[in-house]
Amino acid sequence: MSDRKSMDDIMALCKRRGFIYPASEIYGGINGFWDYGPLGAQLKKNLRDAWWEDVVLLPCGGNPGATGEPVSIVPLDSCIIQNPKVWVASGHVGGFSDPMCTCRQCKKLLRADHVPDLLREAAWVKSLAEAELGATGGRDEGGEPVARSAEIGRLKQWARKAGRKLAPGAWLVRNAEHQLSPPFAAAETEYPWPALLHTVATGVAACDAPHLVSACPYCGGDLTEPRQFNLMFHSYTGAVFDEDNKVYLRPETAQGIFTNFKNVVDTMRVRVPFGIAQTGKAFRNEVTPRNFTFRSREFEQMEIEFFCHPEEARQWYAFWRDSRMAWWQAIGLKGDNLRLREHDQDELAHYAKDGAGTSDIEYRFPFTAPGFGELEGIAHRSDFDLRQHQQHSGVKLEYFDNERGEPAPNGQPKGERYLPHVIEPSAGLDRGVLAVLCEAFTVDPARPSGVIMRFHPRLAPIKAAVFPLVNKDGMPEVANTLAATLTKRFARRGGSIETDPKQSIGKRYARMDEAGCPYCFTVDGDTLKDQTVTVRDRDTGGQERIAIEQVATFLDDKLG
Ligand code: GAP
Repeated sequence: MSDRKSMDDIMALCKRRGFIYPASEIYGGINGFWDYGPLGAQLKKNLRDAWWEDVVLLPCGGNPGATGEPVSIVPLDSCIIQNPKVWVASGHVGGFSDPMCTCRQCKKLLRADHVPDLLREAAWVKSLAEAELGATGGRDEGGEPVARSAEIGRLKQWARKAGRKLAPGAWLVRNAEHQLSPPFAAAETEYPWPALLHTVATGVAACDAPHLVSACPYCGGDLTEPRQFNLMFHSYTGAVFDEDNKVYLRPETAQGIFTNFKNVVDTMRVRVPFGIAQTGKAFRNEVTPRNFTFRSREFEQMEIEFFCHPEEARQWYAFWRDSRMAWWQAIGLKGDNLRLREHDQDELAHYAKDGAGTSDIEYRFPFTAPGFGELEGIAHRSDFDLRQHQQHSGVKLEYFDNERGEPAPNGQPKGERYLPHVIEPSAGLDRGVLAVLCEAFTVDPARPSGVIMRFHPRLAPIKAAVFPLVNKDGMPEVANTLAATLTKRFARRGGSIETDPKQSIGKRYARMDEAGCPYCFTVDGDTLKDQTVTVRDRDTGGQERIAIEQVATFLDDKLG
């Protein structure tokens, strides 16, 4: 078995086996939108259901929360389109934007902060950097950078075409007056690639000339200065398409929770600390959607807003950070591909600066490796959102806690009125599915399929397959009866039971390995004599015989 995972291979399998298709593919697709095929739709539903069961129905497995009581969470399903004032109050109208630039040569629109990464990925930049490094690793005995002369020729040619000049030592510079300091400054000598690539490609040493814009990763052309670009999609309600009727597609599900906080408190028997959870679509007009479903323009979130007393925010933050990490591990993202990263002080949102903290649960995707990409953020949002909505709506959103405050003359607490603080575990469902797909994808040249999808049985979109060894001699009938029994019993457990009488048994196993089906039961000649079947385990390929009447119990145990 091999650890090698190629994103191209994973995407090809997703298409081939009906997990994920490009949206509107017959019309050439649409950038940043993806459709889930039959297996993908079930896989995604299983992940969403697992979250719902473990967050809403039995929060944290029924274990006590940070303050020793059971964790209380109620669900919500709010609208995608809200009163536009919601997005003014939340700060999305004023501030939810990305810096964007345009290539003057090829006219591509790019997110300015993605340019260095894109440059690093660009094949032409890599070849230039390789040329620059040469066969020697880029340094002579004296530690000076060296380059092969033939490659320098190519480099010069490219520089001339791209309107750049080569500085002494073959460093590219955009303007002769901006002399680059060598990118291999002391700290960079061990691993000069990023600095080198950036410098070769852009001719800009960020430290020396931060005001210079970079080169286009696609054609090397000049990029405009970054402009702010609001990420919210908009539309209009009613027949008149003017500013008064402008509405937005929600860029996060969270705000629907904040605006319903008072409704939930007034109508449900909830007491702070408690949480409101919802899953649903969110839309962002990402400037550079990329990396398959990782950064899409339409995606689904699974968000909890957990309301607590300000003095308990630290405890609840740590509680949610750790329990969300444990959840991703429990559904199969184990090992060092998953990590928890606390944000540095300079990464924190302004309202989180004095807070309990912010952390990301990150996964090492094939396209981020050796780096990581965010799956879920856990943030202490203080009372920022409730305060904003209180101020903009004019409706009091304070909570009255009759178990807090100084004791009254009758000995009972007087009560305390406060705006709760919020801990927000906010996960991406599509990113979760992508991580599950990447984690499950296992190359095994010894298998006929060459690939096994090792999904956690809880998430597997096909729970089991029942095959007749050959399509005759009474075997198909026994297999069909067993499949029908299992379907009745397991159809509500998040996946189908497949049957398939055709092709060689090896090919049928191979198909199931690629689909991630954890168990195959085969009816053969012996079944007709001794009422036993073969069980094949997807992960080990091992086989054992069990009584046909034991199959349902066996599967029940294994699916958990
Ligand atoms: N309410 C907080 C919030 O929305 P966020 O970090 O912007 O925070 C939360 O988004 C999660 O939503 C991310 O961790 C990620 O998993 C997912 N997400 C965000 N933008 C996405 C995109 N363009 N495509 C897919 N998933 C995205």
